[in-house]
Amino acid sequence: ERKVTSPACLSLSVSLYVCLSLSLSLSPSLYPTELKGAVEEVLPTLKQQGISVYLLSEECSVEGINPLSEHIAQASDTPLSADFRANITSKSPALYIYTSGTTGLPKAALVTQERVWAASFIQAVSGVTSEDVFYINLPLYHSAGFLIGLTGAIERGITVVLRTKFSASQFWEDCRKHNVTVMQYIGETMRYLCNTPMKDNEKDHKVRIAIGNGARSDIWREFLNRFGDIAVRELYAATEGNIGFINYTSKIGVVGRVNFLHRRMFPYTLIKFDIEKEEPVRNSKGLCIQATKGEAGLLVGKITKRSPFVGYAGNDQQTEKKRLRDVLQKGDLYFNTGDLLRIDEQNFVQFQDRVGDTFRWKGENVATTEVADILTMVDCIEEANVYGVKVEGHEGRIGMAAVKVEEGKEFDGASTFSQVASYLPAYARPRFIRIQSSFEMTGTFKMKKVTLVEEGFNPAAVQDPLYFLDPAKKTYVPLTEEIYSSINTREIKL
Ligand SMILES: *[C@@H]1O[C@H](CO)[C@@H](O)[C@H](O)[C@H]1NC(C)=O
Ligand SMILES: *[C@@H]1O[C@H](CO)[C@@H](O)[C@H](O)[C@H]1NC(C)=O
Ligand SMILES: *[C@@H]1O[C@H](CO)[C@@H](O)[C@H](O)[C@H]1NC(C)=O
Repeated sequence: ERKVTSPACLSLSVSLYVCLSLSLSLSPSLYPTELKGAVEEVLPTLKQQGISVYLLSEECSVEGINPLSEHIAQASDTPLSADFRANITSKSPALYIYTSGTTGLPKAALVTQERVWAASFIQAVSGVTSEDVFYINLPLYHSAGFLIGLTGAIERGITVVLRTKFSASQFWEDCRKHNVTVMQYIGETMRYLCNTPMKDNEKDHKVRIAIGNGARSDIWREFLNRFGDIAVRELYAATEGNIGFINYTSKIGVVGRVNFLHRRMFPYTLIKFDIEKEEPVRNSKGLCIQATKGEAGLLVGKITKRSPFVGYAGNDQQTEKKRLRDVLQKGDLYFNTGDLLRIDEQNFVQFQDRVGDTFRWKGENVATTEVADILTMVDCIEEANVYGVKVEGHEGRIGMAAVKVEEGKEFDGASTFSQVASYLPAYARPRFIRIQSSFEMTGTFKMKKVTLVEEGFNPAAVQDPLYFLDPAKKTYVPLTEEIYSSINTREIKL
């Protein structure tokens, strides 16, 4: 075993993973104790592939799993020999991050060394100094917590406070206890914090910067009112994307501002997008049309040497899907972010929505195709069209599915529930089901969603039978007027 050494590593057991993958060409696999069972299951396969497995623990009785804690304690803090990274370049893979890619099925986005390096400066750019204490309560398997939070903290050399799971009720308590000065958020974080009961001491903390994305204007304002003068650094970026925006001002609701230099270095544009056809609008010459000021358009970033798009691991087809050709000129090549943004009269950039077959609920991306695949495995369901609908007072969209029942069968709420509960995380389970006798299709045989999304789940407005997922009863129950109004008054929590 080689020595794992870096002062930053030693202070943070989790960052060890970073150091291992950044500076050593071992192929280690390191995981926390609670995942031991899951790793044991695949251990034979890992062995076959020559992967060494380490457990962050003093000891481990399982053959083939090596305990690591003792080695960490004994590790020297002198810098590693540069030989270990002799063959690593800026384009070498640093890690893979499992992402929905905003459209299509989840896939492993390849994150290069260069990308990790660049992301490590986001804290610095946002004003974090070496005196700060950074609080991460987001998962470390996503780019926000890992790249911005953890690698940024290593770059700054600061203390990180890690919490396994976000807790709104403990949040400010944690901040006070650990003298936190910088927090991270995703859209829902601020809302959850604002939904906690008011307390006298809620402005009593040292948090001065919040870095994140997805904060909506109304919540952002309420957040500042309640918790005091915190500089919100709203940023926009996709794990695998080649374009990002950050801050520029602390203007509420804004992710950034068009900046001449930024645009010269990382050329991007917003193009007109047909939501119904789910494709960019093209003119008679076959080129895309730039969105006008104030109009929502699809953000595309020119693929250049400086802003490359490296794609998804072993998935050329998905990689190709994110490439857009002939955008402003014949033969040019852009990265399709799958996101709609808007640039206003004052050049402020605002995030609008995600396009395509992914929507967001509770801060997680839901790939509709994946949910539809799970639903169509239910005996009584022939076809499923999955989409997200807006609910008053909630960020994002909640899952809904229009389904076609097999001929001669009846919709079976209990077996549908048991299927989605077994195969989907809670946030991805369709909360509403609409029974349709036939589906409307587009010219290219894609199921139409736009009208369904607009019609939503109001039983008074929708003629088709509607069902509601009742977690307590473990089944889908008919969606009554009564349930509908309890959702609106928030007596029923979604
Ligand atoms: C780097 O590559 C050379 C040549 O392929 C090889 O001999 C050497 O062991 C590699 N070094 C590391 C640290 O992987
Ligand atoms: C937080 O700051 C106070 C006052 O500076 C100090 O007494 C305390 O030890 C600090 N707590 C931690 C966990 O660093
Ligand atoms: C972020 O916003 C603040 C406040 O407006 C500003 O002082 C700072 O320079 C901005 N940072 C960047 C990188 O634009």
